[in-house]
Amino acid sequence: MSLRPIRLYPDPILRVRCPEVTSFDDGLRRLAADMIETMHAAVGVGLAAPQIGVETRLMVVDPSAGEDANVVLTLVNPVIDTEDGSDRVAEGCLSIPGFTEKVDRPAKIHVHAQNLEGEAFEFVAEDLLARVTCHELDHLNGILFVDHLNGLLRERAQRHLRRMREEARLA
Ligand code: NI
Repeated sequence: MSLRPIRLYPDPILRVRCPEVTSFDDGLRRLAADMIETMHAAVGVGLAAPQIGVETRLMVVDPSAGEDANVVLTLVNPVIDTEDGSDRVAEGCLSIPGFTEKVDRPAKIHVHAQNLEGEAFEFVAEDLLARVTCHELDHLNGILFVDHLNGLLRERAQRHLRRMREEARLA
């Protein structure tokens, strides 16, 4: 396993709609292991493949942030088929360090996905697990959590993103 550098905004890969995983091979398993290691090193609760520079529909989720290995989920080609309710809770993103804001997300979702062997499974997620799953699944479609903000909160996000673009230009 190895740590992979996390891509930061405005890296264009963060805006890609990633293609589906079609081969469930050792490369995919290695990628997933690297993503879990990278997520835990960053004390994150989720990570999507494009965040480490790979355009594919693979994401890892750990609502315990490394405290409980039993709750780490690896989702290949995930799809949300039903949503219920709504919550507004603060979120951040490893690709947008230094910025958090409250985002509306469904309180409960029903998710279909495949595991690393290509076997289909499904589960119901609520609260933090639902939120993280929605956030990471957005990454597979080139969507960032700041895209969900409106009004003054959106302006606040835009100021932060403008600073990140300027820093990237000077780097
Ligand atoms: Ni994120």
